[in-house]
Amino acid sequence: MNYKVGTLLEKERLTDKIFRMKLHHPQIASKVRAGQFILLLMDERSERVPFAVSDWSGEDGWIEFAFEVVGYSTRRLSEVEPGYGFLNVAGPLGNPVEVEGGIDVCVVAEGIGISEAYAVARAFREAGCAVRSVLGADRESELFYLDKVGSVSDEVFLCTKDGKWIPERLREVMEAKRPDLVYTVGKVETMKAVSELTKELGVRTLASLRPIMLCGIGICGSCRVKVGGKIRLTCLDGPSFDAHQIDFDELLARMGMFREEERVVSEVMK
Ligand SMILES: Cc1cc2nc3c(=O)[nH]c(=O)nc-3n(C[C@H](O)[C@H](O)[C@H](O)COP(=O)(O)OP(=O)(O)OC[C@H]3O[C@@H](n4cnc5c(N)ncnc54)[C@H](O)[C@@H]3O)c2cc1C
Ligand code: FES
Repeated sequence: MNYKVGTLLEKERLTDKIFRMKLHHPQIASKVRAGQFILLLMDERSERVPFAVSDWSGEDGWIEFAFEVVGYSTRRLSEVEPGYGFLNVAGPLGNPVEVEGGIDVCVVAEGIGISEAYAVARAFREAGCAVRSVLGADRESELFYLDKVGSVSDEVFLCTKDGKWIPERLREVMEAKRPDLVYTVGKVETMKAVSELTKELGVRTLASLRPIMLCGIGICGSCRVKVGGKIRLTCLDGPSFDAHQIDFDELLARMGMFREEERVVSEVMK
């Protein structure tokens, strides 16, 4: 079935498991800002899946995102070809990152978080900020968007698990020149380590969270996180929060809640 909402214009394999997609969607393209996301529904058999918008053109009416194949929905998404029309594309959702001009920013991204980091780095760069980007992936072959991030950063530092990992490299970068703000997006464990480091060095930090998200509009509560001792909804109040206030341990525990169900769906629907 082809629904022709948000038609797929381009699809490109960036790494073994990561794809880039460009969709025709003039309404979202005219409004979206860095840090926001969409909810994509492929067809009646799918669930709505959130993806950060990484690039867009309001003038030409397209949006771009990158995704990693991790389970049933992302595997099916990787199988559709240009011309495919999605059942629904909702967005832009969440709050854009608040961009201050003229400050020194470090953008720290791991894995698929690099696509969001590109949009955020570009927004700060356009506002006249100095931008340094620290990008990490388990292996070098899993890094992507390097030209894009490079084009909006003063310096880019690459990290892999067999060399200096993100917190160690970030410490060096911050000690060389103290940034005014760190923006981080990646695995919860890595963002927690980044947050502990920046707290120690006294640098304001925003972490962009990706909890389980079902409705995207504040109804189901699946995306709740504890920030500063209070329950917040990532879809409405986030996705980025003051990292030093986030309860990362509780977030980690919640992320694993549906692991068995996700494994079963992935097996049964193969
Ligand atoms: C605000 C937001 C923005 C996001 N942006 C992107 C993006 O730009 N690109 C991208 O590839 N992914 C992004 N994600 C994560 C993406 O939505 C999930 O990877 C996707 O829903 C998994 O669906 P699935 O059916 O393929 O896998 P599932 O079968 O649902 O899960 C497979 C595995 O992935 C894990 N997983 C499920 N949901 C998440 C999640 N939210 N974060 C981390 N691991 C998860 C599961 O625990 C499980 O181990 C974002 C999530 C949020 C909340
Ligand atoms: S995803 Fe349902 S409340 Fe946020």
